[in-house]
Amino acid sequence: MRVLLAGGGGFIGSHTAIALASAGHSPLVVDDLSNSHKMSLERMAQLAGVDIPVLVADVRNETLVSEFLGRHGSIDAVIHLAGLKAVAESVAQPELYYGVNIGCTLAVLNLMKRHSIKNLVFSSSATVYGSSELVPHSEESRAGIGISNPYGKTKYMIEEILRDACAADDRLRVTALRYFNPVGAHPSGLIGENPKGTPNNLLPIVARVATGVLDEVTVFGADYPTADGTGVRDYIHVQDVARGHVRAAELYGSGFDAINLGTGKPASVLDVIRAYREASGVTIPYRTADRRPGDVPVSFADVAKAERLLGWRAELNLQDACRDDWNWQQTGAQDHLT
Ligand code: UFG
Repeated sequence: MRVLLAGGGGFIGSHTAIALASAGHSPLVVDDLSNSHKMSLERMAQLAGVDIPVLVADVRNETLVSEFLGRHGSIDAVIHLAGLKAVAESVAQPELYYGVNIGCTLAVLNLMKRHSIKNLVFSSSATVYGSSELVPHSEESRAGIGISNPYGKTKYMIEEILRDACAADDRLRVTALRYFNPVGAHPSGLIGENPKGTPNNLLPIVARVATGVLDEVTVFGADYPTADGTGVRDYIHVQDVARGHVRAAELYGSGFDAINLGTGKPASVLDVIRAYREASGVTIPYRTADRRPGDVPVSFADVAKAERLLGWRAELNLQDACRDDWNWQQTGAQDHLT
């Protein structure tokens, strides 16, 4: 299959492109490099062992993207990962988030129409479960209630747009993959998560403490109703997330499905700090602080639908993710990104 990755230069996209190539498919990437690096694209092709055509452009530049597709033959599926994803920034600049995330989605739908592409995989998020405390989160439970920030709301709105698009075209197939907390890195240590600016997510912060860039981890909340009082999440290795995309792109048929990509295994903030300490052999100082506004106490996935529809389940665990992330920190590969 020839598969276009819109926004394919980032953390999830680059690992997915490699997984597609390993499964015998032909990935193509469009990315504007707003949150990714040119050298990651080169390493992605190196690790994939095949030439991956790349267009450096905003996916909303429909003329350029259309010309690019025209040069590479017919496309069987699109994986749509184009958009902004920083929660705090979305609170400060909601117009930017609604404009970019929804605009990119409409551009992808137009492009698919123009090139008669009927299969779309969308990069959604467990954030669509909002304030629901009914765990594990099942795809059948109600989504969209109590989402605390514009970024999360765009994910939910986009799912609704895509449902409507499927209702209007009975040949369209859309799979919205609701990621839980993607972590880890490629086992080569050549690509991994490298957020521009100060990171917000737990794993990149723990990594920066382990490497001495930051002094300590601030643990947001030690009074949650959980075993050790800290927040509980479902941390899933990016390699598993990437494989999930390959399976979703291979789905046939029509209609809309949302599918969780998680391990189904909950881990607390202190579990993460402990796992990273064991992987790195480095002490990770932390201090507890107040809860972070908008956080739910516990979030983890019901993984039955992914197993049923995709024949997929996570194969790696938190320890594997910390080991691979630490390897990525150690290779120094991220220092050389341009
Ligand atoms: N945490 C800390 N200290 C930090 C950062 C995070 O204690 O410095 C805690 C949080 O309170 C939470 C856990 O670590 O309990 C995970 O926090 P992250 O920010 O890493 O991840 P979230 O679960 O808050 O959010 C992630 C993604 C969002 C996505 C959401 C879906 O970052 O993009 O999952 O549930 F929307």
